[in-house]
Amino acid sequence: MKDFIELFSVLDSELIKTQAEEHSKVVFDYFADQVDNSLQNALVSELIVRYADMSKQLEDKNKTLRRYNEHLEEIVQEKVNEISASQIATIHALVKAAETRDDDTGAHIERTSLYCRVLAEKLREAGMYKSIMNDAFAENIARASPLHDIGKIGIRDSILLKPGPLTSEEFEIMKTHVIIGHDTLSSVVKMHPGNMFLKFGLEISMYHHEKWDGSGYMYGRSKEDIPLSARIMAVSDVYDALRSKRVYKEAYSHEKTISIISDGSGYGFDPALIEVFLRHNLLFRDIYNKLSG
Ligand SMILES: [Fe+2]
Repeated sequence: MKDFIELFSVLDSELIKTQAEEHSKVVFDYFADQVDNSLQNALVSELIVRYADMSKQLEDKNKTLRRYNEHLEEIVQEKVNEISASQIATIHALVKAAETRDDDTGAHIERTSLYCRVLAEKLREAGMYKSIMNDAFAENIARASPLHDIGKIGIRDSILLKPGPLTSEEFEIMKTHVIIGHDTLSSVVKMHPGNMFLKFGLEISMYHHEKWDGSGYMYGRSKEDIPLSARIMAVSDVYDALRSKRVYKEAYSHEKTISIISDGSGYGFDPALIEVFLRHNLLFRDIYNKLSG
């Protein structure tokens, strides 16, 4: 009996470590060395049953593991989608609340998000800024663009909602929305350093009023020192502002707007971006028409 126990304990450990063919070899080698013929038949029968049982158990475990892994992937993907969707929904609600203070329809953020996506996709298709562009760029900028004016939360109503042109002093205060945007988002970015949605949001909120020639605000950056995300946002934001009615101006036509933006190429805007914008300008017009009023 003791021999059986030792035999099975040796066999069990070997069986677990090796594949089916190796198992058989170990078992029969062991028989040849350790037991006489009278025991072989009984042991072989017993071992075949045990092996079959272990094989069945291993197969069942593998099936369970495969099902678990498949399910795990689904669970992880669901969670990623949930987090992503809830992040966006929350930010969207916050930004919309801020945006509707100075935009009756609140559609500005929806339209600018679509302009940003179109520009990014067309840049990628044209093979431009290859070192920066990747598969996720258009998605990230579209999601993060609603954060561009998040700093307006900190601008008082008497300036933000003033029914007329701002004085120079008031305009200086209005400019600080990019600093407030930075202050609002930078601490969150530090807590989530790998989150591209937040990284893009920070870049855009800080630098969307910078100009290609360095004459923008608040950081005086120029050319490619301005992050590409913010350069795309600038074109999108200005296109939408020009098309929209303001207290100090009427809504401009698509043609007048593209003419003004075209004149700003190399001054206010990245000339490479404007080239792509002009080539696909009708997409901007269509987005505006679809989501205005
Ligand atoms: Fe802004």
